Amino acid sequence: MRPLDPLGSLKVKLGAVIVGTVAVTVLVIFVSGRVGIPMRLSIVLATLVGLSMVQLLAHGTVAPLREMRAAAQFMAAGHYDHRVSASSNDEVGDLARAFNAMAAELAEVDRIRRDLVANVSHELRTPIAALQAVLENMVDGVEPADPVTLQVMLNQVQRLGRLVSQLLDLSRLESGALPLQRQSFEVAPVLEEVAAAARLHTAIDVVVQAPHGVVAHGDPERVHQVIANLVENAVRFSPSGGAVEVRAHAAASAGAGGGTAVIEVLDEGPGIAASEATRVFERFYRSDGARAAAEGGAGLGLAISKWIIDLHGGRIWPERREPRGCRMVVELPAATHST
Ligand SMILES: Nc1ncnc2c1ncn2[C@@H]1O[C@H](COP(=O)(O)OP(=O)(O)O)[C@@H](O)[C@H]1O
Ligand SMILES: [Mg+2]
Repeated sequence: MRPLDPLGSLKVKLGAVIVGTVAVTVLVIFVSGRVGIPMRLSIVLATLVGLSMVQLLAHGTVAPLREMRAAAQFMAAGHYDHRVSASSNDEVGDLARAFNAMAAELAEVDRIRRDLVANVSHELRTPIAALQAVLENMVDGVEPADPVTLQVMLNQVQRLGRLVSQLLDLSRLESGALPLQRQSFEVAPVLEEVAAAARLHTAIDVVVQAPHGVVAHGDPERVHQVIANLVENAVRFSPSGGAVEVRAHAAASAGAGGGTAVIEVLDEGPGIAASEATRVFERFYRSDGARAAAEGGAGLGLAISKWIIDLHGGRIWPERREPRGCRMVVELPAATHST
């Protein structure tokens, strides 16, 4: 039982304890005087009653602090599942709630870190194992070092290289070591450049529809990287004979800001289900279909893209396209406000 839990402040609680204790003590002395108990005995009695009163009223006031100390020790040892009871409304209760929130946050960070290490190891192991198998066969003379085999090996090495540079990108972005070189820039030439580079590697039609005059405020190189990621995905998921469209337009923003530049990448592939719309931006996330296809990346492209767009203060999200396909929308702040 915690009688003072409803009180909203530690000061008020202390006041209540003092007033309650003094009142009871005085009452005991008064009553024992009336019934003729000797003064010494009545003082001892009043002290005992006063102390029990403090025990009764203040019960549970500092218990969360003790719990927090214990939980903090568990956390230091790497166990994040301890929570403290936060039933009171005072500062100690607030602290306990903040403590629990922090514990949950730390547990999540710890989970992400573990997942990351596991995922990275797994993604590195696959191409390394493939390379090792082919090399062993060559050394044993089972397989000749012909151009076809060497090309397979080169592909694996390139995949490793891509993975490592994506991981570097992610860690630089997260640590803030990759500051944005912000400027106002025309969106259309960036999109043209991305499309031209994409056409070199695919037979899919990559069409750009971007009027001049759509201007964004940000780091053109990073935006280029994002759109290249999106186009690469769109091309990969396109059926043969499908087309990929890259569009841009200026839009007035809903808020007080200076409008936005909207870039869309559209394809005619399977699209992204609404249930996956946020998950695709998680690191190493790939849908089952994408995982089954041997080619393609490790699921880092969209995670990197989202980081970059978030740094810009923009938004990125997938939409379903009718009758089929995916529309990736990127919203960037337009150039009008100066920073
Ligand atoms: N245009 C798209 N159409 C359908 N699914 C997509 C598309 N773009 C991304 N996805 C889904 O999102 C996942 C994550 O994409 P991404 O982070 O770029 O990783 P990766 O390209 O390495 O698979 C893909 O594996 C796929 O499941
Ligand atoms: Mg990708």
